[in-house]
Amino acid sequence: MVRLSIAFEAGLPHPDGPVAALHPDVGFDMMGLTDALIVQPFFPVNIAWKNQGFACDVELPTRRFSLAVVCCTRSKKETADLIAQASAHADIVVVDGQKIDGVDSHYKTLRKLVPVQGTITKAHGRLFWFAGTDLCGLRAVDWNFEGFITKAGVFSAGAVDQASLLLAEALPDHLAGDVADLGAGWGYLSSRILSRDGVTKMDLVEANFFALECAKQNVKDPRAKFYWTDVATWNGSYDAVVMNPPFHIGRGGDPELGRSFIAAAKRCLKAKGSLWLVANRHLPYETALDQCFSKVEELPGNGQFKLFHASRPRRK
Ligand SMILES: C[S@@+](CC[C@H](N)C(=O)[O-])C[C@H]1O[C@@H](n2cnc3c(N)ncnc32)[C@H](O)[C@@H]1O
Repeated sequence: MVRLSIAFEAGLPHPDGPVAALHPDVGFDMMGLTDALIVQPFFPVNIAWKNQGFACDVELPTRRFSLAVVCCTRSKKETADLIAQASAHADIVVVDGQKIDGVDSHYKTLRKLVPVQGTITKAHGRLFWFAGTDLCGLRAVDWNFEGFITKAGVFSAGAVDQASLLLAEALPDHLAGDVADLGAGWGYLSSRILSRDGVTKMDLVEANFFALECAKQNVKDPRAKFYWTDVATWNGSYDAVVMNPPFHIGRGGDPELGRSFIAAAKRCLKAKGSLWLVANRHLPYETALDQCFSKVEELPGNGQFKLFHASRPRRK
């Protein structure tokens, strides 16, 4: 991202000690700061940084940094929380983001709280920096509702997702055996499935570290096992797979993601196993379902979401 290099030219002090980058996406230009610690809780992106040789963690360690670069996420509350964490542990905090991710709103807020030392606007985004200080008022608090805990930045924080609710209501009472929840989030679907005595194992597979941490608190059942990983590389042997697959990376919609989840279900299901899937009505998953399963039934959904039950995974 060009803004960081322009900022160094415009007076952002070069770090003389440890550097951390919080939640950078794969393409973020670290400007040669190869010793930087990458803080990234989303598994595939964390692994991509590791593969480039960077040290990675899921959250900022409580030690001192000379510079911390916060990359705005889609969640305003999560970004504010990251800014507060960085500000507590770094001499200089840089905030960088696209306008579409609300960077200007963070800039407005921060200008009221701290002396901003510099700002660069370029390429539909903004970068600004300030000296680290106590900003604990920006820390996010967890949401507790209906016996569930969720955190800022996880999918459907603070409420049950309506698509997942629809799927949970449609699942048959006789669902049994070994079950996987692919993209399990904070554990709503799994918690509903585990009300069935016939379920022998429930694997929650999720890429967002903090969503899975919430799931561990929300699903306290010895049949549940939790895996922080990428569904695209997951293997297992299940009688049933349930999913409300993700359909965007950042802001852009990408049905390919959902298709990769459908392919994972095909790969992980026993010959007599079946997939239960909910999706936004506009998402084109029918072809992928037909390619992966010999039998595909559409179940009654609603105006917004469609439901599928697919069985007989194709083996070729
Ligand atoms: C639409 S949400 C559904 C969450 C949850 N099942 C629910 O019903 O509330 C999709 C979930 O998939 C996760 N996810 C996205 N890409 C993933 C990947 N490659 N591997 C595993 N999980 C992923 C997201 O973090 C998110 O929690």
